[in-house]
Formats: sequence, C-alpha cells, structure tokens
Amino acid sequence: MSEITLQGLEKRYGETTAVEDVSIEIADGELLCLLGPSGSGKSTTLRMIAGLESPTEGTIHIDGEDVTDQPAYDRNTSTVFQDWALFPHKTVLENVAFGLKMRGVSAERREERAREMLERVQMAGHEDDDPTNLSGGQKQRVALARSLAVNPDVLLLDEPLSNLDKRLREDMQIELREIHEDVEETFVHVTHDQDEAFTLADRIGIMNEGKLIQVGDPDEVYENPKNRFIEGFLGDTNFVDATVTRTAVDAVHVDTELDHELVLPTDRDHDLEAGTELTLSLRPEILSITQASAEADDQRVVADGSTTTAVPGRIDNVIYRGSTVRYSVSVNETSLFAERNAGETGDLSAGDEVNLEWDGEEVLAFRTDGSRVSL
Ligand SMILES: Nc1ncnc2c1ncn2[C@@H]1O[C@H](COP(=O)(O)OP(=O)(O)OP(=O)(O)O)[C@@H](O)[C@H]1O
Ligand SMILES: [Mg+2]
Repeated sequence: MSEITLQGLEKRYGETTAVEDVSIEIADGELLCLLGPSGSGKSTTLRMIAGLESPTEGTIHIDGEDVTDQPAYDRNTSTVFQDWALFPHKTVLENVAFGLKMRGVSAERREERAREMLERVQMAGHEDDDPTNLSGGQKQRVALARSLAVNPDVLLLDEPLSNLDKRLREDMQIELREIHEDVEETFVHVTHDQDEAFTLADRIGIMNEGKLIQVGDPDEVYENPKNRFIEGFLGDTNFVDATVTRTAVDAVHVDTELDHELVLPTDRDHDLEAGTELTLSLRPEILSITQASAEADDQRVVADGSTTTAVPGRIDNVIYRGSTVRYSVSVNETSLFAERNAGETGDLSAGDEVNLEWDGEEVLAFRTDGSRVSL
C-alpha cells in the first residue's frame, strides 16, 4: 500500500513560486508521469514527495500518513536522479547494496538482494565492475537497481533516462515499464519528453509554471487537452487564428487567416459572439493532402451534412522524418504542415499544388485566455 496524496502543495523560493497549489491523488501501484517544460516545477514536486524539500504550504500523505514534516530518511521513498550519482570507488554490487547497508541489513542478505536486483535490470555479470567504466545505459540500470534494492513503497524518478541516446532511451522506457509491472510499487516519473510519458505512464500529470494543469490517461489528455498550452505541448500542431463570424444551431462559423470561412460543427448552444477571437488547432494527422485536381479547387462541403473542409495550397517543403514525411504547405499567407507515412507519399513534391482536407469535427478551438471551447 503506497498511495500518495498531495493537497494544496506549494513551494516558494523568495519571489519565485516553483510549485503552486498542486493537488493530486496517486493510486497505489500507479505509474504517474509528471510532464512539463523546463522550470515548470516537476523536480520540486518530486523532491517534496521525497522529503528533500519542505513545502511552503500544503500537505503530503503517503499511505494515509501525513509525512509533510517527516525527514527524507523516515519516508519509504527512493529516488533515481538524472545524473545517476553512483559511487565511483565502489563496485557495481556495492553500489546496489549501499542503501541496504545503511538500513542495517546483514552482509549476506544484502549481497543476495543486490544480485537479485542486478539480474532484474539485466546487469548480472557486472557485479565486480567499476561503475565509471559502464556505459550510460548500464549506469542507469545500476542506479535503478540501487533504488529498487531498498524495496521502497514509492520510487521517484527524476528524468533518469534523459542522458541516454534516443534508441537506448526507448529501450529503457519499455524495460522500466516492465520493471514497474514486476515490482508493483508506486512510481512517480518526471520527464519533459512527451513520447516518454506516453510510453510509460498509467496517467500523465501535465505541469506548467508550477501548476498541475491536467491529469489523466495518456489518450484522454491527448484527445481532450484542457487548454491551448497542453495542445501545443503534447505534439506539433497547426495553430490558426480565427474570428467568429456567426453561430448557428449546429455550427460556429469563423473567419481565419487561411482566408476561408471555416465551419466548426457543434452540438450545443454557444455564447460565442461575432468578433470573438479564437485559436484553432489543426493537427497534422487530421489533414489529408492530395494532388489538386481541377474540380476540387476551393470547395467547401457543408450542404449535405458532411463536415469536410478542403482548401487549396502549395507544397513549400518536403521533410523526411524517418517513418513519416512532413509537408509544409502554404495556404495563402499561412503555412500548415501535414504528414503522411513514409511509403504512402505518392508522388507529392515541393512546388505541387495540393488540396488539404479535414473533418471539421476534428478541429479544436481555444479562447484567447487559452481555455478550450467545447464544441
Ligand atoms: N533551490 C531553488 N532556489 C530557487 N529557485 C529554485 C530552486 N529550485 C527550483 N527553483 C525554481 O523553481 C522553478 C521550478 O524548478 P524545477 O526544478 O522544479 O523545474 P523542472 O520542471 O524540474 O525543470 P527541468 O525540466 O528544467 O528540470 C524554476 O523556476 C526554478 O528556477
Ligand atoms: Mg527538473
């Protein structure tokens, strides 16, 4: 049992508010990723859970016990840091056994446990190695084994994979997930890497400027971003400025920098007045790009109940990104990007006249204060 409850957590350093009013319940055995840009308060939140920083306000409960004023060594948490911090003058085995030694575990028992942990992170055979001679990925595994060896209720991970190259990082993400399933402990994992959060997390908590903006399952936050910040942070998207021209029973009509009146289908009454400024998000995956044919020019199909919109454009750039190909398309003065899977690119190339088409149902809209308009 190791659920964590943060209630109104706040940390100020002089004038700086590092963490502001963070409240969340983390379930026993959950893997929660705290995701956010640099300086958003992720590490500070984690360090408060660990007891390495004391909150200016708010409370922390672990397993129902108020640990807010408890020192780090009294909490059964263990932390893995970005820089691994292995002891250079100890062997790998001694490194992993270190925490157990500090807890007064017998030499025999701690060696047994350390070997078991090294096996779990696939580092058996390296017991006698000098950690300074290990690769980044191996150091990371040893650090993980060391943190797991003490059998913590809560494992706190602060960007432990960010010093690894892409390929190794992706492998370790999968392994970390497997280890989490295996040990059945509560993990709080801090990262600024969206892909990592999506790969690892049971739930993602997105932070910005010290605040926890949204918490949810990965697909939930992706499908249903609460505000414009999250929409921009979770993936590349095309933001398009728009102004409401009129609202109808089933649609909001907007004028956009694409120079086309776009129709946003809606199923509710709106208080959006004509003139209201919005930002639309057209994600690349909703844009289908096809060679322009004469009759497809600038058509907007709404009459038959279809919510498809098509605009003509021109390919400025084709960027190969491995598994996908990205097209930068100018539509009047605006540049939008669309994507296709490599292998499905057809014969599109720079300079081609194309049509971009999307379903209006897939467009998200945000007010100037960043809040989402529910359409
Ligand atoms: N000990 C400190 N003294 C003063 N300000 C601090 C201290 N620790 C953190 N801060 C400030 O608090 C804010 C949040 O920092 P924090 O380290 O929690 O961010 P982060 O989300 O972990 O960022 P990163 O992704 O860069 O690690 C930052 O503005 C930072 O400068
Ligand atoms: Mg940090």
